[in-house]
Amino acid sequence: MCGIIGYTGPRVAREVVIAGLRRMEYRGYDSAGVAIVADGRIEYRKKAGKITNLDAELAVHPLPDAGLGIGHTRWATHGGPTDANAHPHVSANGRVALIHNGIIENFATLRAELQASDVVFASQTDTETAAQLLGREVAAGTDLADAMRAVCARLEGAFTLVAVDAQEPERLVAARRNSPLVVGVGQGENFVASDVAAFIEFTRHAIELGQDQVVDVTPTSITVTDFAGNLAQTHPFEVTWDLSAAEKAGYDWFMRKEIYEQPGAVADTLLGRYHPDGSLKLDELHIPEAELRLIDKIIIVACGTAYYAGLVAKYAIEHWTRIACEVEIASEFRYRDPIITGSTLVVTLSQSGETADTLMAIRHAREQHAKVIAICNTNGATIPRESDAVIYTHAGPEIGVASTKGFLTQVAACYLLGLYLAQVRGTMYDDEIHAVMGELAATPPLIQKVLDELDPIKQLAADFLGKKSVLFLGRHVGYPVALEGALKLKEIAYLHAEGFPAGELKHGPIALVEDGVPIFIVVPPQGRDQLHDKVVSNIQEVRARGALTVVLAEEGDAEVEPYADILFRLPRVSTLLQPLVATVPLQMFACELATLKGYDVDQPRNLAKSVTVE
Ligand code: F6R
Repeated sequence: MCGIIGYTGPRVAREVVIAGLRRMEYRGYDSAGVAIVADGRIEYRKKAGKITNLDAELAVHPLPDAGLGIGHTRWATHGGPTDANAHPHVSANGRVALIHNGIIENFATLRAELQASDVVFASQTDTETAAQLLGREVAAGTDLADAMRAVCARLEGAFTLVAVDAQEPERLVAARRNSPLVVGVGQGENFVASDVAAFIEFTRHAIELGQDQVVDVTPTSITVTDFAGNLAQTHPFEVTWDLSAAEKAGYDWFMRKEIYEQPGAVADTLLGRYHPDGSLKLDELHIPEAELRLIDKIIIVACGTAYYAGLVAKYAIEHWTRIACEVEIASEFRYRDPIITGSTLVVTLSQSGETADTLMAIRHAREQHAKVIAICNTNGATIPRESDAVIYTHAGPEIGVASTKGFLTQVAACYLLGLYLAQVRGTMYDDEIHAVMGELAATPPLIQKVLDELDPIKQLAADFLGKKSVLFLGRHVGYPVALEGALKLKEIAYLHAEGFPAGELKHGPIALVEDGVPIFIVVPPQGRDQLHDKVVSNIQEVRARGALTVVLAEEGDAEVEPYADILFRLPRVSTLLQPLVATVPLQMFACELATLKGYDVDQPRNLAKSVTVE
């Protein structure tokens, strides 16, 4: 997500801040900005695009030297990547500048309240509501830290906030809820940042802020409280990583880091979308409900991993909405003359928002008068811009070429869309929607549980180093999970791998099974029609022919035990939600195997993160 840095001390704050922003460039961003406090005023510069654009702006309109400054690299969520939406945001009264990482869920209500009292907004961001609220408090005479606590009490969602006051040239105040923040402890100077990479050049002493804490920082003091103002315990630590490890938060690869970010990424994607009245918030360009009621066919169009997320979504969308749903590889879509009418809804999935095949499919669909909803992770990218509506997945930037959190968040966003359509069209009762939303909201800790128990998968990679081919089997939503598991292995471990629907085995692929061939099998939860028992039979079939079976089955499923050479337990979830937990071990297996083989996991050969050519 966004990169945040704040500095107070004897150095030139602007320089410290810009250097810190550069060190956080790896996080991905689409605008950058800096604010300083000098002569009782806040001065700031901010630009869309890379830090070089900000450099150019500073060259033309320099900032004075000052000892207090904050800076930000933004990954757009609310409002496109423009100069105005870039951080810092300065309150209309000029008193405070504020930067933010996260999502303020109730910003629309707060913004309306502020506008009703004649506050004029300069951006479309959720962040600016916090800046305006804080500016109002401070102008009313409230101490900056008290004001921050008062504002935090009004915010819902996830946030790290850092603010400075024009009248306090040495003090910055920061707050944290569900979003990272560390304090860098120097001698006669201090730092706050979203990760240690930002200040590692200056100090290796750090304090990690806890949940719902506020830190009040001057060059010589650091005071941490909870949101109620009670002094809080701090957790000091020494940074032992070098810079490149620090960028990856201590992980060896961005891919591994992104695998571990999945609980938060799914939670953020769900955050603030669903209201108890059943309405879903589409980020931009609403399609009227009356038009959605007329939809008679859905076509999901995407490439690669996003296509597999679409295959998962089809099961849920058809089940919940009773609308026929096709899933199509984008590069095939427009060349087969698909049947599209004004009542066709095309849903495109794209992490980058720039995939040329998907974009061409959108253009084709819109020429045929279909409505297009994009599910995308990159705010302001071409695909959402060219679509009628967009639901952003809030996964944060994905740097590793192989998509991981992109997949899980695409599935989550598709489910939100499916439930929304079901609600609009009356194909599910509100209590049914509510129950599924409850289950979805409960998945992040379950994903975390899978992550916490991955050691056997890592060991497995070491045992499978010499294998020439790996097969993956699944049924129902487990089938696209099998495809995704195979794709990950091909992409980063350069290993032949195939995914099949388990029922197709006997129609051909079973001929591939011989002694020692590893086969991963995703077993559906027990009690789902006869699906579970059918898959257990499939495991027996391949094992009888010498396969080495790696079985992913839910906790408590004893039926698989006799046939599993290796058994990996998944948390108990309903069938449709199982991909959110079952994909994770397969991602990690590929990451681990590629690491052991000595390959560049983040930049596999011949692949690009954003495929902008057809
Ligand atoms: C696989 C992978 C690719 C992408 C595909 C679509 O790990 O990363 O298969 O999923 O190129 O990319 P987006 O989602 O950016 O359209």
